[in-house]
Amino acid sequence: MHKRRFCLLAACCFLFFKIDAQQSTVDSTDKKVKALLVKMTLEEKIGQLNQYSNDIKVTGPITVYDSKLEDIAKGKVGSMLNVSGAIATREMQKVAMKSRLKIPLLFGLDVIHGYRVTFPIPLAEAASWDMDAIERSARIAATEASASGVHWTFAPMVDIARDPRWGRVMEGAGEDPYLGSLIATARVKGFQGKGLGNLDAVMACAKHFAAYGAAIGGRDYNSVDMSLHTLWQVYLPPFKAAAAAGAATFMNSFNDLNGIPATGNRYLQRDILKGKWGFKGFVVSDWGSVGEMIPHGYAADKYEAAEAAITAGSDMDMESRAYTENLKKLVEDGKVNEALIDDAVYRILYKKFELGLFDDPYRFSDEQREKQVLDKPEHQEAARDMGRKSIVLLKNQHSLLPVSSSVKSIALIGPLVKAEKDMKGFWSIDWGKDERPVSLFEGIKQQAGRIKINFAKGCNINDSSKAGFAEAIKLARSSDLVIIAAGETADMSGEAKSRANIHLPGVQEDLIKAIHATGKPVVVILMAGRPLVFNWTAEHVPSILYTWWLGSQAGNSIADVLFGKYNPSGKLPISFPRSEGQIPVYYNYLNTGRPGPEEEAGGYNTGYIDMPRLPQYVFGHGLSYTTFEYKDLTVSKSQLMTGDAAEISFVLTNTGKVSGEEVAQLYLRDVVAQPIRPVKELKDFQKVFLKPGESKKITFKIDREKLSFYDSELNWIAQPGKFDIYIGSSSKDIRLQGNLYLQQ
Ligand code: NOJ
Repeated sequence: MHKRRFCLLAACCFLFFKIDAQQSTVDSTDKKVKALLVKMTLEEKIGQLNQYSNDIKVTGPITVYDSKLEDIAKGKVGSMLNVSGAIATREMQKVAMKSRLKIPLLFGLDVIHGYRVTFPIPLAEAASWDMDAIERSARIAATEASASGVHWTFAPMVDIARDPRWGRVMEGAGEDPYLGSLIATARVKGFQGKGLGNLDAVMACAKHFAAYGAAIGGRDYNSVDMSLHTLWQVYLPPFKAAAAAGAATFMNSFNDLNGIPATGNRYLQRDILKGKWGFKGFVVSDWGSVGEMIPHGYAADKYEAAEAAITAGSDMDMESRAYTENLKKLVEDGKVNEALIDDAVYRILYKKFELGLFDDPYRFSDEQREKQVLDKPEHQEAARDMGRKSIVLLKNQHSLLPVSSSVKSIALIGPLVKAEKDMKGFWSIDWGKDERPVSLFEGIKQQAGRIKINFAKGCNINDSSKAGFAEAIKLARSSDLVIIAAGETADMSGEAKSRANIHLPGVQEDLIKAIHATGKPVVVILMAGRPLVFNWTAEHVPSILYTWWLGSQAGNSIADVLFGKYNPSGKLPISFPRSEGQIPVYYNYLNTGRPGPEEEAGGYNTGYIDMPRLPQYVFGHGLSYTTFEYKDLTVSKSQLMTGDAAEISFVLTNTGKVSGEEVAQLYLRDVVAQPIRPVKELKDFQKVFLKPGESKKITFKIDREKLSFYDSELNWIAQPGKFDIYIGSSSKDIRLQGNLYLQQ
């Protein structure tokens, strides 16, 4: 037999046996779950749908209840959240082992951006546009959390967000459905690693299903009112991607969608998720969201709320006790068919079997492994690397950065220079007790060498005192370079942290003005969990770095960029408005009949008379210490037939003096369509490393799928006609343009 034919045969056999093995695992787990189900009483089944929070760490309203352990011992609890640590989880699991059927508990926790080692907030990581790095970050978080007895993370949050007033923008991947889908996939893969059952894998949870990011007015928990077309086209794709990547669980959301609370929303959970997408995992409610259907005005009491939620497909009730208190009666009253409960229990038990908890309920609660895994130096190194990849260089006039070798003294000014705790950002869970994140001050000190470093705070983050200005100005005058660190506190973004005013808080921008007035060169570093408004700074300060919250290694990551050890490569995953009045603001908007120029105010065009509608910084923007040239666009086939693919190629050259990475972005516009299509949509990108003078040919492949969208009836289709091709360094900085025609 020819060698090639033999290899092909061997590969086919391998694939066949692999699929066969997978199928037989599925079958045997199915049998085990069913065998257990028949042994369960209705109360025990309902117990599996009930999740309590540990009293110690809460992320929602505290429910005072003394009998949690008793309930666990009686088999009335399927999962606990906010329990972590090998010892704590083992102790609690022991209680579950006292129950009649000894069904192990699931331990869930908000491992959002790291566990022991804190990684950059998710929005910051999204700015890296680096899927491998994002996956690695989630992988490390999972490795650490699983060693601490955690089976399940309530992440990734894959909500698209077009409103920076919403405090939870920090927790997602920004405004774009394509980028958001890739990041959702990377995070699910990272958390679940080689698959559930491996000791270093935790279940992912795609949340909040759905459209939570579109809360009206950017107010957390608020209503969402949107067309189904926008829902499908913009808000659902990252969820669909997470489901396709195998996310074990989904969490529904606090908001109502067009009048139906997501928790009681059958269309979302049964029709779309479990129906159209064939999702086999389970859905957990958000904290108390079953019971919250009462204040929503959707259910009169918890009895009605439980009925609505289980019917709609919410499998597990997080902390509202509506299931545990009412499901039995609902079945007895004939309002809920027991088959619905069986289905929910089946889904949950299936995951417990997959995790291997029935073989050994304590397999994740291993103190020795916990000690070995937590605090690994390579995890800190990865956090430092992720941190610098997440930084966005917004502006750099006269190449003020990296810090020049002629600088002999630096004045570090601002309320965030020495901040430590804030570096962790919102949602950091298990920072080791004796450790603290690296502040900017420490990071700079470490790398400053002979440069003299002095510090003056100047002002606080959010008050009106200018008492510290004089000292800061004096220090600036006597230094060669000034670096100002300003922004929010970490708890000004996150859950329940919506802000109506997203300008730089307090007198920080006044401080920047006063320091700038000294005539000294000024670099501003902005730290925040959301896009802030800082127009004066954007217009007058020569160099601006946006560093979000970068976690444990924040100071080191920023210093790496300041001193040129790392050439910044981040690109904004979300638009930065000039004013709250522009919100919602996003690059992939629909054209009106009167578009007019984005940069100009006034006229009988869509826009404002008092400012341009163009945001201050656009989606995809981010500079480097080097420059890149885009040239020689070729489109392999300008007429595309069904089944065809076109290759769009160009040459990217590093025209500067240092090595660097560019995120080359491909946008398309479907010029005439029904319904109308956005002015631009991100369809692909590549992050490319080039040495000075080096060139590389970049190729993007466009097929019918890339040209498709949801029509008014929500069919996924591509309409024939002309498509504009835009290739550039941001959604605005377009360097090459071409066309493509899709034939009938
Ligand atoms: C409420 C939040 O909305 C959700 O994202 C989180 O996972 C739960 N609380 C549990 O802490």
